[in-house]
Amino acid sequence: MSVDEFIRTTGSALRGNYANARADFTVDQDLSTYTAEDQKLWRRLYERQFDLVRDYACEEYLEHLSELDMSQSIPDFAALSTRLRLATGWEIVAVPGLIPDLAFFSLLAARRFPTTVWLRKPEEFDYIVEPDIFHDCFGHVPLLFSQHYADYLQAYGVGALKAAKLGPEALVMIGRLFWFTVEFGLIRQGNGMRVFGAGIMSSSGEIVYSIDSPVPKRLPFDLERIMRTDYHIDRYQDPYFVIESFERLVADTAHDFTPVYTRLREMPTIAKAP
Ligand code: PHE
Ligand code: FE
Repeated sequence: MSVDEFIRTTGSALRGNYANARADFTVDQDLSTYTAEDQKLWRRLYERQFDLVRDYACEEYLEHLSELDMSQSIPDFAALSTRLRLATGWEIVAVPGLIPDLAFFSLLAARRFPTTVWLRKPEEFDYIVEPDIFHDCFGHVPLLFSQHYADYLQAYGVGALKAAKLGPEALVMIGRLFWFTVEFGLIRQGNGMRVFGAGIMSSSGEIVYSIDSPVPKRLPFDLERIMRTDYHIDRYQDPYFVIESFERLVADTAHDFTPVYTRLREMPTIAKAP
């Protein structure tokens, strides 16, 4: 889909500025557009969430977060990319906001992580539905420095492009896999249940809830169950799925999904919690 067509069909729902977007939906990050207020808000977001991730995030995440220098100001994507290329061959690219599925998957398949340039408003301190630069940088970027996770995300991009060719049902199924791993995944580690999903990682409420609340189910990673499970986009999840390691996640998703999509298409969806 072209940028013009995306703007026309998605219209007023789009929050970012797509005027200068290239055909692949990337833009240049202009650090001079962030105001002193933005920088202050970034520091407040970082500080609050940093205290939480120490107790709830997985080891790999914490190791890489501490190597990055994001606490004092909104990160410069070029500087992050320089380090990331050396670590795992990924890079950060700026995007105006949400982009079409195919554009998103193509970037992932090329080991380029689309990162939103704008920051939420102070009144959205606790919650926004859309990804902003805080969610993308704080939630996603640290794990891109981890080899198996980085490989998983690229494989995901390639697999999602394939799913898109197979049809809308396959696309819905692969979308659920993204949701329940990359965004809302949990991982079992030596020190207990921990978070790796970026949607949880950047949320002050859900990071505590996902680990400590007795309410949601925490099921062992099950690819086919995930592919059949519907979800809410605007409230805490139930269920969560728990992986054993990123290496295992890569291994458990390495087979060809084509026959899986065909088989699951005939099976009922597992409804979201009421
Ligand atoms: N193995 C999947 C396929 O053949 C691709 C994939 C890998 C999807 C990893 C998601 C995560 O379609
Ligand atoms: Fe995200």
